[in-house]
Amino acid sequence: MTPTVLITGAGGLLGAHLAAALAPEYDVVGTDRHPWWGDLPIRFVQGDLGDAGFVDRLMVETAPATVIHCAGLVNVDRCEEDPALAFAMNGAVTGRLARALKPGGLFVYVTTDGIFRGDTPLASEAWLPCPRTVYGRSKLHGEWETQLGAPEHLIVRTNFYGWSSGRKPTAGEWLYTALATQAPVTLFDDFFFTPLYVGELVERMVALIESGHRGIFHAGGADRVSKHEFGIQMAAASSLSAANITPGSMDAAGFRATRPKDMSLDSARLAAAIGLASPSCMDGLRRFVADRGTPLSARSLRRGR
Ligand SMILES: NC(=O)c1ccc[n+]([C@@H]2O[C@H](COP(=O)([O-])OP(=O)(O)OC[C@H]3O[C@@H](n4cnc5c(N)ncnc54)[C@H](OP(=O)(O)O)[C@@H]3O)[C@@H](O)[C@H]2O)c1
Repeated sequence: MTPTVLITGAGGLLGAHLAAALAPEYDVVGTDRHPWWGDLPIRFVQGDLGDAGFVDRLMVETAPATVIHCAGLVNVDRCEEDPALAFAMNGAVTGRLARALKPGGLFVYVTTDGIFRGDTPLASEAWLPCPRTVYGRSKLHGEWETQLGAPEHLIVRTNFYGWSSGRKPTAGEWLYTALATQAPVTLFDDFFFTPLYVGELVERMVALIESGHRGIFHAGGADRVSKHEFGIQMAAASSLSAANITPGSMDAAGFRATRPKDMSLDSARLAAAIGLASPSCMDGLRRFVADRGTPLSARSLRRGR
């Protein structure tokens, strides 16, 4: 029998791409409070994970061998405004799902590069977390709930971009649109990260799950770039002008919470575990541009398939 993989947040950016990548080989069940928008038929259960009864019924009725938990309160400002909701959604819901998994099941938690203090380049899995934001603290709480609730687990800390359903355009889509329309944008030259295209993240997560490794892994690209450099590279990958991009400082942005300035990750552990080197920033951006306007099923989500 094909093992059942339950993907939460399957209506969102990462969850939808994971569902599309796994559907040809696994019995995929997607769940989200929004409808399924992919072009591949999957089993889909619409509901709110904030409803404990829904979570319990979902876990009993689908009895998954693997849960990939992508749903979360991802809006950093919203988390600052409502910490109780952030901890309930990113922490408590994670624990409820993890504890409901049948013995021997694998729980995969997708978490953030924002769990570190963010003042030193290329954080490794050995570093002690010290999140600055409510979002980061609530995601760290989710990591602990995962470790406590599910003996067999993977915790994947990452940062990615891609094409959404269009319901909630991603930062990558926003930037591409600004380049295509030459709308003026200011991009930080003092904020650094190691972004992955969502297709690159999906192929790494699937390889990691199938490899049998367990524990914490960082999943980032090979290049530590500023937001400004990322914009310049996106323009080059898209053959668009970067004349509309102005460099700016995070210090002038007036964010509600003090945000980390260096969220770059060292992903050497993941590369060694799955035998797949971290991709360059330009590699990912070329795939992002090539996948523009394509249906989910046509995107390159699994290496060699
Ligand atoms: N994007 C990044 O660069 C990044 C970086 C680090 C970590 N992550 C983590 O990766 C995961 C996936 O991120 P993503 O960018 O794919 O997010 P996304 O596009 O917002 O997808 C998450 C999906 O889950 C849904 N959801 C949220 N709360 C729910 C609830 N209570 N019940 C049912 N569905 C719910 C969301 O609906 P709504 O849109 O209505 O909330 C959305 O459809 C998240 O856990 C995030 O913390 C993302």
